[in-house]
Amino acid sequence: MYLWQQNQDPMTQPIQGFSKLDKAAKIDWLATHFTGDPEEAKKVLAQYWNTDRQLQQLHDEFIENTISNFYLPLGIAPNFKINDRLYALPMAIEESSVVAAASKAAKFWLDRGGFKARVLGTQKIGQVHFMFDGAPEKLDAFIESIQEVFITDTAAITKNMEKRGGGITGIVLRDKTAELQHYYQLHCTFETLDAMGANFINSCLEQFAETLQREAKTYRPFTADESTIEVVMSILSNYVPECLVRAEVECPVSELQLRPDISPAVFAEKMVRAVTIAEIEPHRAVTHNKGIMNGIDAVVLATGNDFRAVEAGVHAYAAKDGRYQSLTHASVTDGIFSFWIEIPLALGTVGGLTSLHPLVKLALEILGNPSAKELMQLVAVAGLAQNFAAVSSLVTTGIQEGHMKMHLMNILNQLHANAEEKKVLTAYFKKHTVTHSAVVSAFEKLRQP
Ligand code: MEV
Repeated sequence: MYLWQQNQDPMTQPIQGFSKLDKAAKIDWLATHFTGDPEEAKKVLAQYWNTDRQLQQLHDEFIENTISNFYLPLGIAPNFKINDRLYALPMAIEESSVVAAASKAAKFWLDRGGFKARVLGTQKIGQVHFMFDGAPEKLDAFIESIQEVFITDTAAITKNMEKRGGGITGIVLRDKTAELQHYYQLHCTFETLDAMGANFINSCLEQFAETLQREAKTYRPFTADESTIEVVMSILSNYVPECLVRAEVECPVSELQLRPDISPAVFAEKMVRAVTIAEIEPHRAVTHNKGIMNGIDAVVLATGNDFRAVEAGVHAYAAKDGRYQSLTHASVTDGIFSFWIEIPLALGTVGGLTSLHPLVKLALEILGNPSAKELMQLVAVAGLAQNFAAVSSLVTTGIQEGHMKMHLMNILNQLHANAEEKKVLTAYFKKHTVTHSAVVSAFEKLRQP
């Protein structure tokens, strides 16, 4: 069923039933109407299909309208000593210098006691947003009176989670009418153990909404108007300020000899000052935190977690005091340099992609099949290490030296350098500064007869 006429303009006339086409027909339509060279486009898409049909089907079925796979490199940052145990962190990321920087930071702290991390809280949040036109104290009493009903109505959903020690931990009415007329919330809290818990929470919330509306209809103290509660929506919140983890490193200032030309005391002072700037200045804070997310997202992605949820929650947390601020902090007290991060991370090590995606399964195995709490600690450390690497470069050599070294291979690939040329030019740029134009001119020189 290819509901497309040859004379239809794809830019102005929508296609009907696209999702019902098979993969070949979808690609055919797309390549024909949206690319300059349809045969080449089809070739590129096909290049990324997996030859293992079952594996390809698994990926096809993760989402709708799959036409190919989109690769990211999976790298490993070894030598992370975290809570006295060594880890090799799997990182899925495209940015050239991130894995190298993480590895460098891991190695540096390896000899200085490693990273310490601990979970400060695991509370997840969901809300039923609703409108109620009536007496607030009556609503209050009503919600109080149906607490048990909320729990019994969700018993089938919560049974397994409760068996493992989790479940619903609170259902509280919040009056939001000062911000929006008639607007209230059921602010609900959950313990979802090793699951990220999105499906569990959303299922509970949708049941709460039903219970709320049903019970209101027969609640005697309500007037006719009051008994009609309008539910606007029921959804988890990705802002989880009490699903929090802290990671830290510390060592005597005298051990901060990173480079021969900068004394440990000067380096410590520069680090603390750079972090303070990110604490007080939002433009810098955003970039500072972006560097942290380089490490966090890479591990979050490799372990099959929802990096958009993590990003949204982390940035909201960075702005929790009314101004967007650094997520890391640094101090020198009594000759001890301390560097730490506190971030909300709602992660899972069961459910979702964790048992489905073969690389995610492997990444979790590499990490020793961590609990969600352990994974929170590892991810927080990845963010802290990444930030240490970025800021220590920024306050010493600048970022470009290391970044361009790692980017060299991308430039050589853009130039279609062959293996021998790559070898020669990599050796050359060990001793020369990498810039785009320097690489192009060295490459051209090499190719000259
Ligand atoms: C680049 O991906 C990340 C940095 O900009 C982070 C920072 O400035 O701290 C280097």
